[in-house]
Amino acid sequence: MSKICVIGTGYVGLVTGACFADLGNTVTCLDVDASRIERLKQGIMPIYEPGLEQIVQQNVRHGRLHFTTSYPEALKDAEFAFIAVGTPSGVDGEADLQYVRQAAEAIADIVDHPIVVVNKSTVPVGTGDWVAEVINRRRAGKPLDFSVVSNPEFLREGSAINDFMMPDRVVLGSLDRNAAEKVAQLYQSLRCPIMITDLRTAEMIKYASNAFLATRISFINEIANICEELGADVREVARGMGLDKRIGPAFLDAGLGWGGSCFPKDVKALAHMAVLHGTHPQLLQAVMEINRNQRRRVVVKLRKALGSLDQKVIGVLGLSFKPNTDDIREAPALEVIHLLENEGALVKAYDPQAMDNARSVLPRVQLVDTPYQVAEGADALVLATEWNEFKQLDFDQIYHSMRQPIIMDARNLWDPDKLRSLGFTYFGIGRGNSIHPKG
Ligand code: UDX
Repeated sequence: MSKICVIGTGYVGLVTGACFADLGNTVTCLDVDASRIERLKQGIMPIYEPGLEQIVQQNVRHGRLHFTTSYPEALKDAEFAFIAVGTPSGVDGEADLQYVRQAAEAIADIVDHPIVVVNKSTVPVGTGDWVAEVINRRRAGKPLDFSVVSNPEFLREGSAINDFMMPDRVVLGSLDRNAAEKVAQLYQSLRCPIMITDLRTAEMIKYASNAFLATRISFINEIANICEELGADVREVARGMGLDKRIGPAFLDAGLGWGGSCFPKDVKALAHMAVLHGTHPQLLQAVMEINRNQRRRVVVKLRKALGSLDQKVIGVLGLSFKPNTDDIREAPALEVIHLLENEGALVKAYDPQAMDNARSVLPRVQLVDTPYQVAEGADALVLATEWNEFKQLDFDQIYHSMRQPIIMDARNLWDPDKLRSLGFTYFGIGRGNSIHPKG
């Protein structure tokens, strides 16, 4: 059992703290947002993450998990201080490290015992060295016995607890192997490969992993766009590709592309690091461009199908950047809606979880309570996020309630033949003849 402080209670910090507590450690999660800490103390979660409320409440009840805004309280006797604060994108795509700096300086100001500082936030390559410099500079004259370990997270929103408890691997990087071994002990009971390397390599593994996954998605989206012109079905292409063990089936779903708080930020940051250090990230630039184009292509298809988007009613199903989360950061649905509104369309939308988050950023959108209300009177219906509850809709009811039976299935969730047999004009992404519909 160890005493752990986690700084930052976003989906990385809160999941990390709750899971470490569930593994038997004593954890204090700190956040500078007092209202968030107050709600956490009342058992109210700041984010929708399946299973999070239960694991937090259970570990608070067992006295293993605590919440505070006080650094002295959080760092008291802590053997480990995990920095899990936000690293938002700066204007040029570089990661903004102000919150990492504040956490590092707080550790330097308060701690007077040996401690392992663990970077859990996604930080540019070289940040581990920088954190050590920040702490040493802050402690000039009163050296602190500490080491820095990079421990990047590979959590997916919507499955973060499962990803923490059953990771494919744990990556640790440090100049102090002994410190890395101590952090490795925290993960021992997860029985997964634990890789120990140096700081910069561990930081690069995180960026390279996310950038590769984003590249796979942009790759299959480019293939989808070619399939549309050549009459092949990209879902079948992906299935055939995925049977090759060297390729594998994951992350080959063509559609609106990637959003969220990680891929966009991390791919941009990696490209920025590359340019800053004199290399030309042409592949990463193309990966981002293809991703941007996926949203535009959906709007072009709708404009072609409707003649003009001005004053047309477009229903959008799904606003979160992916299913099983309420997170709308960089969600493709939001960009599609902005493009539609720019051409005078009137948009109605529904999402199973993201409505509260969407309300503040979609002032002109009519937010309704069911998928059927979205379809009512619509000239076209766009599937933007493939929530399970959209899989088995009553399309007969939808057909008769729409003004025009046009469907843009931007996540290839539905069966083109079934919808066309009901009389819909169906568009998918890369569904062979989807751009030249039979119906
Ligand atoms: C991602 C990484 O998967 C995770 O390892 C890292 O720690 C954080 O970033 P996350 O952003 O939560 O996780 O979601 P993910 O499931 O990876 O999806 C990212 C985006 O890609 C979503 O917008 C999703 O809709 C899209 N996506 C995913 C596709 O468009 N096609 C796919 O085949 C898979």
